[in-house]
Amino acid sequence: MNIEDRVIAVTGASRGIGAAIALELARRRFRVACLTRRGRGPEIDVAPELRSRLMNEICDVNDEASVRKALESVGAQNGLYGLVNNAGIHLDAPSREMDTATYERVMQTNATAVFTACREAYPYLAKAGGTIVNIGSFFDKIGVKRNLAYCASKAAVGAMTRCLAVEWASKGIRVLDVAPGYVVTDLNRDALEHGPVREYIDKRIPGRQPGTPEDIARLVAALFSENIPFLTGETIYIDGGHGIAH
Ligand SMILES: NC(=O)c1ccc[n+]([C@@H]2O[C@H](COP(=O)([O-])OP(=O)(O)OC[C@H]3O[C@@H](n4cnc5c(N)ncnc54)[C@H](OP(=O)(O)O)[C@@H]3O)[C@@H](O)[C@H]2O)c1
Repeated sequence: MNIEDRVIAVTGASRGIGAAIALELARRRFRVACLTRRGRGPEIDVAPELRSRLMNEICDVNDEASVRKALESVGAQNGLYGLVNNAGIHLDAPSREMDTATYERVMQTNATAVFTACREAYPYLAKAGGTIVNIGSFFDKIGVKRNLAYCASKAAVGAMTRCLAVEWASKGIRVLDVAPGYVVTDLNRDALEHGPVREYIDKRIPGRQPGTPEDIARLVAALFSENIPFLTGETIYIDGGHGIAH
């Protein structure tokens, strides 16, 4: 199959890392189904030649019917070569004060919705094999104050990645978790550009710089372009060495 005929669905492609992933995949000539709440695709400047490789679908990842409809609309017509579960939220609070509703909101969007999107994509991916890339976080392996729900949700993404990789390997579906460190986006711009987190980054990231959405997008797109069958089930950290630095 030509690259131009391979369709990859990306959740949360409206902005941040998801928009960068959609555009990088389009740059590499894939067709990209942008699954976003407003159905407008990346809400940033996009060159017309890239725009023509993007399809827009309305999708709230917390609404199973909406996920099913979006993937059906893409998969039934064009088939599905890949899925990137990127949509995510970050809510923090001291654990002793975090109400259950906040905890569940984070788990729902960052973990449960990853499971439901994988399940809904399965019939289309299983037809000819394909790749799922889940966007996790290096917070999956460390303890972070005020971040119990977020850390737990991203650890769940790593666990689901391993389980699905094992369960669906016989269908030619590989499943990977790309786990970024600090990347400047709307999720954290205020915190990363000023104040104590900025000082922390200067001390803890060996290169003293956070990543960019394009760094993450290039790794994700390379996983699709290279298509290495023996690589599956792994969490691949991309954090400037933050997670391994002493
Ligand atoms: N930035 C970092 O430092 C960092 C580090 C590690 C991991 N990550 C992960 O990377 C992913 C993207 O984060 P980001 O930094 O790009 O965040 P962002 O700039 O805040 O963008 C979040 C994206 O998720 C979408 N989204 C949220 N809830 C959704 C829902 N219910 N249905 C559909 N889309 C939804 C948003 O759509 P709307 O435009 O509709 O709100 C937006 O496109 C997340 O999974 C995050 O946990 C980020």
